[in-house]
Amino acid sequence: MKAANLNIWACMPALLLAATLNVGSGETYSTVTYNAAVAGDTIYVYPGTYKEKLTISKSSITLKGSTYPSTSPSGNEALMTYSTYASDAGSDDASGPFRPLFPLTQTNASLLPATLLVTGDNFIMYNMNISNTAGTAGQAVALSARGDYGGFYASALLGWQDTLYAHTGSQFFGRCYIEGAVDFIFGITGQSWKLVLGANAASGTKGSVFLGRPWGDYARVIFQNSNLENMITAVGWEAWDSSQSTSNILFGEFDNTNAAGTRVSWAKALTSEEGIATILPTYSSWVDSTYLGVSAP
Ligand SMILES: *[C@@H]1O[C@H](CO)[C@@H](O)[C@H](O)[C@H]1NC(C)=O
Ligand SMILES: *[C@@H]1O[C@H](CO)[C@@H](O)[C@H](O)[C@H]1NC(C)=O
Repeated sequence: MKAANLNIWACMPALLLAATLNVGSGETYSTVTYNAAVAGDTIYVYPGTYKEKLTISKSSITLKGSTYPSTSPSGNEALMTYSTYASDAGSDDASGPFRPLFPLTQTNASLLPATLLVTGDNFIMYNMNISNTAGTAGQAVALSARGDYGGFYASALLGWQDTLYAHTGSQFFGRCYIEGAVDFIFGITGQSWKLVLGANAASGTKGSVFLGRPWGDYARVIFQNSNLENMITAVGWEAWDSSQSTSNILFGEFDNTNAAGTRVSWAKALTSEEGIATILPTYSSWVDSTYLGVSAP
């Protein structure tokens, strides 16, 4: 009995030490990048533009922008921004973290850089804007998510090509705004569920945008209950190249509006929506549905 009591007391200091570390002009830290954070800590980011590139490899870190708890990213005041792209990697920290899990034929994932790379599990981010400003330079990831149970809320991910790399692990994106022009949401073996804000394509692109193309032969993507704003091309999806086998690919749609068109033969019109538990079976223990104010289907 006595030993058990001692164990409880021994645990308490660790709990009490979970801290909030303030970043901003005149705050303890002037950059989001620092090494003081330990598991359980929150990095609180005051309004400002932070020109930096960061890897979060520790587990259970929360990154919180100053407009928390706003459930919309439109008023976000904390922006982390960097210009980094595929062909400048290799000379800096980008080449290390991006080791591919298996040989990739289409592109070399080891060369993909990102403004924010998360490899720690249970990472949570609220009300942050993460931008990669490399523009048309090539693959330029804003957020690469490689940890398990990552929750991203009311955040904006901004880029041109390869904006969001849902690389591996389970992830949830709630009320986020994700912007890009080419392959801007992609992944390898990650399972992610996204509740994304309304799209707003440039007028010249209406009717010419693809929902997606399969990077691997077992890719699965579903768009459901979404307003596609007439910006999707009639065939909807495109194969990576003419030699790709599409027989094991699941690209589905359910109950979208403004989504007219005759899709490619291998697209699937679903007869019911896919529940979040199918994709993220344990979501209720780590997705912050209270914050979102909605319950997922
Ligand atoms: C963050 O992104 C949102 C959505 O694009 C935008 O409305 C907001 O002004 C951005 N905030 C900053 C500080 O960049
Ligand atoms: C991918 O990049 C790694 C690391 O620079 C290199 O060793 C490998 O040969 C590259 N693979 C291809 C297919 O270019």
